[in-house]
Amino acid sequence: MNRNQKHLNYIDTVNLGSYYTSEIIVDLAYSILQKNVLDIKDFTILDSSCGYGSFLTKKNIAKRLIGADIDEKAISEAKKRIDNVDFIYQNSLANVFRKNLAIEDNEKLIAVGNPPYNDTTSIIRNSIKDASAQHKIDSDIKTRDLGMSFLLSYNKLQTDYVCVLHPLSYLIKKTNFALLSKFTENYKLIDGIIISSHEFSDTSRGMAFPILIALYKRDQNGMTYNYIQDYQFKVKDDSLFRLKDFDTIVNYVQKYPNKKYLNKNDKPVAKFWTLRDINALKRNRTFINSDTYNTVYILMEKLPYYCYIDVFKQYADKMPYFIGNCDVIIDNKKFNEIKECFISQSVHTNPILKNKFKFREIPNAKLKIENYFKELLGSKLGEKYAKNFD
Ligand SMILES: C[S@@+](CC[C@H](N)C(=O)[O-])C[C@H]1O[C@@H](n2cnc3c(N)ncnc32)[C@H](O)[C@@H]1O
Repeated sequence: MNRNQKHLNYIDTVNLGSYYTSEIIVDLAYSILQKNVLDIKDFTILDSSCGYGSFLTKKNIAKRLIGADIDEKAISEAKKRIDNVDFIYQNSLANVFRKNLAIEDNEKLIAVGNPPYNDTTSIIRNSIKDASAQHKIDSDIKTRDLGMSFLLSYNKLQTDYVCVLHPLSYLIKKTNFALLSKFTENYKLIDGIIISSHEFSDTSRGMAFPILIALYKRDQNGMTYNYIQDYQFKVKDDSLFRLKDFDTIVNYVQKYPNKKYLNKNDKPVAKFWTLRDINALKRNRTFINSDTYNTVYILMEKLPYYCYIDVFKQYADKMPYFIGNCDVIIDNKKFNEIKECFISQSVHTNPILKNKFKFREIPNAKLKIENYFKELLGSKLGEKYAKNFD
């Protein structure tokens, strides 16, 4: 069955996040679900952003299948393609109550699917319908990202399990995790697999970012951010990955604009663009000359760390996609052993530093740096990643 959506123009596709899911990924989600929910036949399965219904094609898997979508054409196409599913044309983020989906209070419920992930502030505004930007969202589940609102909607429906795809950044970025508090207080991640956003052919033009096929179970203790930091994430076709295994640059430097924290005796020696995650570093500048609302002022004793980040950017494409939303990683002890190599490399390659500082060129600096990264990735993620630096 062709699952690619063809009926929307570019703007509406972006605004509705209408990138449909391939059979391989749907099957992967179901394999996680079936491994963990042995009595799945007793449940009703709901995909409240179902598109053409990719997640609702499994026959006799559950007691009942329900699909809903805000896109009327998608729903009518889904009805043509799949039998024995209750399809509903509706906005699943407004008036979120079981009765609006004809689901009984005592019905055992699993939410599945691939809800749109779309920062509502970046919704393209010139669409005729202005799709999701104008659609109403219940105030108690309103966030800056449609996908997070969907997670909150599953909590509002009191689903017993949630098995959906979403950006890994929802869990691993502390600010996102906090925005999801109503969800994280009631659900616990019990299984999941990380895949690349490039698994979606329509989105493969941009920078790859990690998406989690997550399985959550309703749990009165919920989960803490510490639980996520300790969680062993499985990566598709790959190794395991745990946030706590890495030390990051945030333990040593200022990431965000710091003008107001400077003392009058502080004499900044350089300026840096605000730091976010590794993927943002790939796009953004490092050292800058100007004073902007994004400027981080650097004191001499911290300069080597910023040189480290500048050099890290040069190698960022060799880092695996699944750490793209993490802060810049570092092995502080080993870095300190060869920090002059990083300073030398940065000063001699970055035009802004070149004009500001004189620093002797360290012989074999590049080789030592590459060995450092080789060891860092090899020891934490497996030998496969060490090879990127051969
Ligand atoms: C990433 S697609 C996934 C479609 C389908 N579940 C799949 O995996 O192939 C996201 C879907 O969410 C729908 N959508 C966006 N906002 C919605 C809303 N407020 N209520 C219901 N559906 C919505 C879009 O129309 C689109 O079909």
